[in-house]
Amino acid sequence: MKLMHAPRRRGALEKRKMRQVRIVIVGAGLVGGSAALLAAVAIPGADIILVDAERVRAQAQALDLAHATASWGHDSVRAGDYEDARDADIVVITAGAGVKPGPSRPDPVQVSARMLDDIIDSVAPLAPEAVYVIASNPCDVLAAHALRRLGCARERVISTGTSLDTARLRAMLSKRLGVATPAIDAFVVGEHGDSSLIHWSGALVAGVPLEDYLERSGSELGPASRGLMMRSVHDAGRLSREGKSATHYGIGSCIARICQAIAHNSNLVLPVAVVHAEVEGVRDVCVSLPMVVNAGGAHLPAYPTMDADEREALQQSARMVKDVTDRIAARPAEKVA
Ligand SMILES: NC(=O)c1ccc[n+]([C@@H]2O[C@H](COP(=O)([O-])OP(=O)(O)OC[C@H]3O[C@@H](n4cnc5c(N)ncnc54)[C@H](O)[C@@H]3O)[C@@H](O)[C@H]2O)c1
Repeated sequence: MKLMHAPRRRGALEKRKMRQVRIVIVGAGLVGGSAALLAAVAIPGADIILVDAERVRAQAQALDLAHATASWGHDSVRAGDYEDARDADIVVITAGAGVKPGPSRPDPVQVSARMLDDIIDSVAPLAPEAVYVIASNPCDVLAAHALRRLGCARERVISTGTSLDTARLRAMLSKRLGVATPAIDAFVVGEHGDSSLIHWSGALVAGVPLEDYLERSGSELGPASRGLMMRSVHDAGRLSREGKSATHYGIGSCIARICQAIAHNSNLVLPVAVVHAEVEGVRDVCVSLPMVVNAGGAHLPAYPTMDADEREALQQSARMVKDVTDRIAARPAEKVA
C-alpha cells in the first residue's frame, strides 16, 4: 500500500498555548479514575474533568483523586458535566455500557455504539477542535464509529488500540531478557483483541534487531516462548478480571501517556489506532500500528516492514475489525433493554 506522511497539524493546543490544557474524561469508573490519576501526575497543570452518567460517581472519584494528587502538589481533577467540555483539547471516552453478551440481551457492541453517539452528540458541539481518545471496548470498532459520527480528520480520533497489549509484551520481554522496557522497541499491532500479533521481525532490543540481539547476547527466545508470550498478551485482561473483576491501571497509564503526547505535542511513537485508508488491502479500517502522536492527533509516519506471515496475520486482524465496524454501520442502534 502507498501511504502519505500526514503533515503535522496545528491542533487546538498549539493555538492556545497560554491556557491550561483541558482534558475531559467521560466515564468515571475504574479506567476513567486510573487515567485521571496518571494524567494528573504526567501533565502537571492540566485541567482534568470527570463526567459520568452517574454524577455522584464522578464526584466521588474526583474527591478521592484530589486526595491522591495532593501528595504530588496537584489540584487539577474535578467532577463536571458536559458543559465543562467546552473548548476541551482532549476528550477521553472510558464509559462502559455494562451489557453482558447473552441470547436475551441486545448486541453489546450496538449498545456501546449508541452510548458513544450520545456522548459525542453532547460533547462535539462544545469542543470542535478536540482530539478524541477512545478506550471503551471494543475500542477500535468504537473509534471507527466515532469518526463517522464526528466527520472530522481521521488523525483526531484515536483508539487506545494495542497500547496496553504492547505494554504487556514489553513487560514480559524486559523480564525475560533482563533489559529495562525503554530499551525494548517491540510492538503488538492489529486489533486490540485476540487477533492482534507481535511484530517480531521489527523488534529492537538496545537498538539491535531482536534476532541479532539474541545471538550476540546468548539469550534464547524460541517459537514456543514467543507463542506463550502472544497467548499471555491475549489472556492478560481475562486473568486480571478473574482475580479482581477489572483491569484498569495498565490502560489508565496508556491513556495518560497518549494524553501527555497530545498535550505536550511531543511526537511520541505509540501503538494506537486510527482509521487508516488501507491496511493490507482492507480499506478504512481502525487497527494499531506504531503512530506518531502529537497535538494534531495520531499520524502514521511510515508503514512498518513486516514478513509475509505477519502481513497475513495483520490482514486477518484488520478484516475482523472491519467486519464488526461494517455490521454496526449497517444496523440502526438498539436501545438498552
Ligand atoms: N482499551 C483497553 O485496553 C481497555 C482496557 C480495560 C477496560 N477497557 C474498557 O473501558 C471501559 C470502562 O471500564 P471500567 O472498568 O472503568 O468500567 P466501570 O463500570 O468501572 O466504569 C464505567 C463508567 O461509565 C459510566 N457510564 C456508562 N454509560 C455512560 C454514559 N453514557 N455517559 C457517561 N458515563 C457513562 C458508568 O456510570 C461507569 O461509572 C469498558 O468499556 C472496558 O471494556 C478498555
